[in-house]
Amino acid sequence: VREVEGSREFFDELERQRYGGDPFMHRVAHFDAWRDRRVLEVGCGLGTDLLQFARGGARVTAIDLTERGASLARRRLGMYGFAGDVEVGDCERLPFQSDRFDLVYSWGVIHHTPDTPAAAREIVRVCKPGGTVMVMVYHRRSLFAFQAWLIYGLLHGKPFASLSRVISENVESPGTKAFSRGEAESLFSGLESLRVFPVVTRYDVRLGRRWFLPEWLRRLIPRGVGWFLVVTGKKGPVPATVPDRSLDGGETRSRAT
Ligand SMILES: C[S@@+](CC[C@H](N)C(=O)[O-])C[C@H]1O[C@@H](n2cnc3c(N)ncnc32)[C@H](O)[C@@H]1O
Repeated sequence: VREVEGSREFFDELERQRYGGDPFMHRVAHFDAWRDRRVLEVGCGLGTDLLQFARGGARVTAIDLTERGASLARRRLGMYGFAGDVEVGDCERLPFQSDRFDLVYSWGVIHHTPDTPAAAREIVRVCKPGGTVMVMVYHRRSLFAFQAWLIYGLLHGKPFASLSRVISENVESPGTKAFSRGEAESLFSGLESLRVFPVVTRYDVRLGRRWFLPEWLRRLIPRGVGWFLVVTGKKGPVPATVPDRSLDGGETRSRAT
């Protein structure tokens, strides 16, 4: 993006690039399904998706690890006339009470953090009982990962390098992880109606650094090998009976729900 960082033109251009390049985003993320509900975005980056939730009428909150991300996302919401709370924070220790949000959304974030299972637990913790979780992580059994292995493994004389190692050493920040469907499922195995599905992206078949397959050709690629792995599910209701340690003897009491 060539425009001045933080300007309206900059944000508009970011949006054009994101949804032009990833045209499935609105269909998959349902940004406008959360009117008047509390939405938390974990790792909002520059706030492109956050703005879509705000436009859809959601009450938005977000965190990002970087001051740059948090302040640009905050500025962006304000520039388009929306209120929202955007803070610096770590997905492994979310600065929120439990059971708070109707949707906890995180796109392309928790595979960058060292303790991904801790981030997954935190995301579920702050989601309300009956609320929804939607998380995207990278998919190891994908065309993108295979291409990365061809380039950084085979062509670099390391044919025995694993897909995980190739991704960790060469894709985005050092230590980036990618998951199989089963692994992604077990990160969120506490959720109900759990669904894990890959999405084919422009990155799956790259002809060059900035050359992608046209969308009509991309549609011919089987979905199962897409680079984005979307995990979604609902947090179950609070169990009707919980051990209450504050009571003498720690006996089990019924909780009014
Ligand atoms: C690839 S960007 C994705 C940003 C945004 N979700 C999007 O889809 O455009 C990854 C983002 O995750 C943030 N991030 C990385 N580790 C994090 C952590 N431990 N806690 C919170 N945010 C983190 C980064 O600062 C960055 O903004």
